[in-house]
Amino acid sequence: LRVLVVFGGVSVEHEVSIISALQAIEVLQVKYDVIPLYIAKTGVMYSDPSFLDIETFQNIDDVLQNKKPVHIIKHEQNGMLVYKKKFALQKIPFDIVFPILHGTNGEDGSFQGFLKTLDVPFAGCDVLGGALGQNKAVMKMVLQDRGLPIVPWFYWEEHQTMEEAFVQKVKRLGYPVIIKPANLGSSVGIHWVEDEEQLLTAMKDAFLYDAVVVIEKAIVHLKEINCSVLGDKTQCKTSVLEEVVKEDEILSFRDKYERGEKGKGMASLKRKIPADISSDMEEEIKQYAVNTFHALQCEGVCRIDFLIDCDGSIYVNEINTIPGSLSCYLWEKSGVSFSKLLDDVLQMGLK
Ligand code: DAL
Ligand code: MG
Repeated sequence: LRVLVVFGGVSVEHEVSIISALQAIEVLQVKYDVIPLYIAKTGVMYSDPSFLDIETFQNIDDVLQNKKPVHIIKHEQNGMLVYKKKFALQKIPFDIVFPILHGTNGEDGSFQGFLKTLDVPFAGCDVLGGALGQNKAVMKMVLQDRGLPIVPWFYWEEHQTMEEAFVQKVKRLGYPVIIKPANLGSSVGIHWVEDEEQLLTAMKDAFLYDAVVVIEKAIVHLKEINCSVLGDKTQCKTSVLEEVVKEDEILSFRDKYERGEKGKGMASLKRKIPADISSDMEEEIKQYAVNTFHALQCEGVCRIDFLIDCDGSIYVNEINTIPGSLSCYLWEKSGVSFSKLLDDVLQMGLK
């Protein structure tokens, strides 16, 4: 099987995506022909064996000066990568695309939509699953509709005025609140707000990133528990649970990406596996994870993140439909090797 692994991308999670993808490629190469497709921060696509080596990304801007952009096209059954060499078109065939992109334009259904219009097979969530997972406002509406527990919240659109009615709404939710742009991951544009004074500045900043902002009641003294789910629309299974060891009130960008061991991304964050919680709570979380996976129309491997407050209430917080390191560290502790995990995700994509 020829697998086109796509990574990088235009989102702020560009670097994390490189790490996640190179980790997966190392394992995929044992069984499959892997063709790397790197999307530069400009959105231009390149493919070259040198992109299999993490060193290439140390001075990527220089490297790209001598590379020709490539394009994905559909040819007969599957796909082709095409590029122009002198006057002739060069073609590299592949059987399936494996998007290992995080965030905007990669995880949110956009790239999946591009592949769908070409009718090229791909692994992981479809357009809708990715889009629902990435948009915090719409995701919450769907989860709420399914009776899944989420923290008290509401959303606000940029065209709406932030006067008395808005301020009262926030007051009813109760401070502190967390302000989040609906569409952005990786803690960018997210603010912890203690009072009315901080509120408008935080909202203004959040609106720089999205025209819809989500206002959530902050859950104080929380635990953050993550669970990975692997499956499709008919069946799925859950991994062991992890407890994220955090230092700040909100898991910051630094917590997620910089404190990890260099080059290991999400797989090297400090975490307790399995999470230190009761077996009843564990079962409850796993059930919510399964219901969330299905409610959001997911496929492949996802990671669903939960919050637990000081009186033991559980809340579904967010989902990563292309999780960092594809959650291999959770599946390895659940008896599923990284290689088996990737096989399963690819097989589901081929169906
Ligand atoms: N979005 C990042 C990579 C994660 O939380 O898995
Ligand atoms: Mg994310």
